[in-house]
Amino acid sequence: MAIGVFDSGVGGLTVHHALVRRLPSADFVYLADQAMTPYGGRSGEEIVDLTRVGCERLFGAGCNLVILACNTAAAVALRRLQQTWLPDYRREIGRPVNVLGLIVPTIEAATGVPWEQETERRGEKVEKLDVLGIFCTPATAKSRVYEIEIDKRAQDVAVFCEPCPDLAREIETGADEARLAANVAEHVAELSRRVGRPPDRAILGCTHYEITADIFRAALPPGTPLIHQPGATAEAVERYLARHPEYDPGSAASRRFLTTGRPGKQNGLVERFWGEPLMFEGA
Ligand code: DGL
Repeated sequence: MAIGVFDSGVGGLTVHHALVRRLPSADFVYLADQAMTPYGGRSGEEIVDLTRVGCERLFGAGCNLVILACNTAAAVALRRLQQTWLPDYRREIGRPVNVLGLIVPTIEAATGVPWEQETERRGEKVEKLDVLGIFCTPATAKSRVYEIEIDKRAQDVAVFCEPCPDLAREIETGADEARLAANVAEHVAELSRRVGRPPDRAILGCTHYEITADIFRAALPPGTPLIHQPGATAEAVERYLARHPEYDPGSAASRRFLTTGRPGKQNGLVERFWGEPLMFEGA
């Protein structure tokens, strides 16, 4: 069996890359829903449906575990699918399958509080000092998942989400660096204006943005720590697999890349980020 990695487009490759580094002998199938990208401006119902179809495709391609390497899908669809679709689907296909997201691992990395300890930290509000800026899609911002989940774990963190409506699309369509830098600078300035100062730390809460981490670093005050989702997610998946031997990730180190869009080589930014060209097959 293989591990499936799903995103609306190329952004999830940042997570896939970290997973491959951590689990080098595992088999992976990556699916980019480029026919429907970007997800960030879509309705909740659309995002749930598209995410379910993507998971079905990956399970159909021999995966038993799917990682939603997409904040928008994880924020809007993961819980719904786990509660309303997966139990029946498991019965239907007669083997263990599961879908995991990347938001909880990111929040654990940002707060230092694992999921299990969450309730022990609830209590009196303390003065909020640590400003955590989250750059994400409009759908992720609207879900308020980061504010809600971080508040459960760490009351001394003030969370400010900055929706960046066009950024994932620009990255996906290979916009040049000057255009991306102008867009990022605008959003960093807008968040800083709302907070009254720049954030103390930041999460790039859309997997596409990780490809432009250097551009964010240049727009934020020097040395602002960035919490990296790909590394945090890969570490969490490795721990999950150790606890769940029923999800055998394979051992042939095979890598398939599927797209619902145009098959072929992906754009220059992806190649630079990945270190080699990636060839996609039609899904
Ligand atoms: N890369 C995705 C995310 O992490 C989705 C971007 C989009 O499709 O709008 O949110």
